[in-house]
Amino acid sequence: MRNKLTIGLFGFGCVGSGLYEILNRSGLFNASIKTIVVKNKDKKRAIPQEHFHFDKEVILNDPEINLVVELIDDAEAAYEIVTRAIRSGKHVVSANKKMIAHHLTELIDLKNQYKVSFLYEASVCGSIPVIRNLEEYYNNDTLSSVHGICNGTTNYILTRLDKEGKSFNEILEDAQRLGFAETEPTLDIDGFDAKYKLQILIAHAFGVITLPENILNIGIRNIKLQDIQYAREKGLKIKLIAASEKLDQNVIGYVAPEFVKEDSFAYDVNYEFNAVTIEAAFSDRQVFKGKGAGSFPTASAVLSDISAIQYDYGYEYRKKETTQLSYAPNFSTRIFISSTDPAKLDLIEFSEVEETFSSKDYAYKIGTVDFGKLSHALYRENPELFIAFFPESEHQFKLANTVGSEKLMAKLVG
Ligand code: HSE
Repeated sequence: MRNKLTIGLFGFGCVGSGLYEILNRSGLFNASIKTIVVKNKDKKRAIPQEHFHFDKEVILNDPEINLVVELIDDAEAAYEIVTRAIRSGKHVVSANKKMIAHHLTELIDLKNQYKVSFLYEASVCGSIPVIRNLEEYYNNDTLSSVHGICNGTTNYILTRLDKEGKSFNEILEDAQRLGFAETEPTLDIDGFDAKYKLQILIAHAFGVITLPENILNIGIRNIKLQDIQYAREKGLKIKLIAASEKLDQNVIGYVAPEFVKEDSFAYDVNYEFNAVTIEAAFSDRQVFKGKGAGSFPTASAVLSDISAIQYDYGYEYRKKETTQLSYAPNFSTRIFISSTDPAKLDLIEFSEVEETFSSKDYAYKIGTVDFGKLSHALYRENPELFIAFFPESEHQFKLANTVGSEKLMAKLVG
């Protein structure tokens, strides 16, 4: 028997308007949008103005509304809406990865306390049903790694930079026009969006909840045409990879550009497509690929959550209760750094250097570094410096000495 759902929808942007349309088309029984609340009174929208309200209380104080669908991009406002909705006993579906990543532990406790469902499949990799798969299908298998292309905007930019050589900013503007990019471009191009998604993936894959601050994110802002040229000459591509692996009793994670080989899951994932590859002891390696951004693909994941709530589905976080793993930020890895100013290559201390090249206006170095030598600040403060992981295989990491990992955490944040 399906529960009757009366929906209060927050947000009518790219995903909200997509949901409105596909919910009407899907023929989903017993689920209808009663009220839509948006922020901007003057924005022109595809349906008449009388459908919209501007005061969140209209939804939050309506006892008939039993499901709140939160599809706004302001993470702080979303946090208030979601926590208040749960405290009012309403189920919640959200796509707000930033809000979820920052408050996951608290939101799990809250939804348990008020015995409601809180689902967020659309927050990670758009149309790919990866959270529910990690939660249910891989619950009894021993997962060893999750690697993904989790940000459509950067994948779109990297694909077009490689294929067309158009300028970075022009391609970013196209991604904004197409509705892939976040309102604040830094979230996409500096790897924050992918990091929030990775943090959620780590929670459902390994049962480990860490804060986003503990996951290193290096973005693609500093990429140069010479880097793309270098990759092309070697038969490689550069992709923004979000990766998490189990090493002994630890889980490690990062978001960074990576040189990928032709046999990598990521090599032929282009434009706004996302992909996730999951490795587990018994099922071995599986790859999920689909559209990671855009109106209908993302709305399809929201629709699936709505449908699941009709059958009383909720995440149980069973791995969180039983895991023996901890999040460790310290490991060593092989990287590539390049700069238009050769002196900048000395900013990172390598434990082993394999290759260096230097010309008047381009220099690079490949070798092994201790992960603690890298930081988001180093990347942001040196626009000439492109930093990318350069793995020999997809399992490249060696766990470094975890003593002193708190110091390292502070460095990663710094
Ligand atoms: N800005 C995000 C992306 C939207 O490009 O992947 C989907 O989460």
